[in-house]
Amino acid sequence: MNINGKTQLFAIIGNPVSHSLSPAMHNAAFAELGINGAYVPIKADNIKKTIAGLRTLGFVGASITVPFKETVMDCLDNIDPTAATIGAVNTLSFSQQDQEGLCICHGYNTDWIGSNSALSQVINPEGATALVIGAGGAAKAVVFGLLTAGAKVTIANRTQEKAEALAVELGCESVSLDNIATIPAEILINTTTVGMAPDSDRSPVPIELLPHYQVVMDIVYSPLQTTLLKQAMACGCKIIDGLDMLLYQGVEQFRIWTGVEPPRSIMRKALIETMEAI
Ligand code: ATR
Repeated sequence: MNINGKTQLFAIIGNPVSHSLSPAMHNAAFAELGINGAYVPIKADNIKKTIAGLRTLGFVGASITVPFKETVMDCLDNIDPTAATIGAVNTLSFSQQDQEGLCICHGYNTDWIGSNSALSQVINPEGATALVIGAGGAAKAVVFGLLTAGAKVTIANRTQEKAEALAVELGCESVSLDNIATIPAEILINTTTVGMAPDSDRSPVPIELLPHYQVVMDIVYSPLQTTLLKQAMACGCKIIDGLDMLLYQGVEQFRIWTGVEPPRSIMRKALIETMEAI
């Protein structure tokens, strides 16, 4: 990487952020395409001051991660209507206004595109039935993506009221975790942290239910082969690991920032190599 006065700056803003795989993914893409860009992790305490700092320093783009995807929305000039509907922003792009020198900050959500793209590798969500476990921020983007693609969605969550509220908000169904066996679904997606290291022996869904599903997707990527995915594979389901959603939301970010077709395979390779090195 040859950093000089023309290097375009990008960041991932979160807290914590040191574990993020996004710097490796985006910097590999810049290198592959010969783009003079650098993407750095920034641990933030105050999101307002951090965004003001990015504007002042002339950053071109940023990723937003936990816990700022919702609070960052108060710091922006424009919010993409889709991100506004989801209620979360994970991507910023900054454009410098010519005469006044004002910096305009636009917010987008690419998580739902990441989820849909990952899913589309193995199944067409249009007209499919899907059961989504979890009702947090990640679930919101996943469910929005499924509904946008024309799937019929049911949400189940440990705190059932949250599943019910999200279902009402987005216009789908909810069910209690105890009753998921009663919901016929072709697609099962885990959006909770259940199964994430160090609790990697846990799964959000009992193994005996897994033969009901054609496709099982997990957004957990540490470990890559979660207990849920290992069991689903053993039951004959097609599986999609958490790296795919991370990859495809990043692919879409890269497209927004650069306007060029992102080098997906290079980005995925960088993600895997970085995970293996941890
Ligand atoms: P994110 O924005 O990453 O989705 P979040 O908003 O904190 O994070 O949501 C985490 C999701 O994982 C929630 O659905 C949460 O369930 P609750 O709403 O009941 O808290 C779910 N979750 C986290 N830990 C869990 C556990 N041990 N068992 C079951 N669900 C869990």
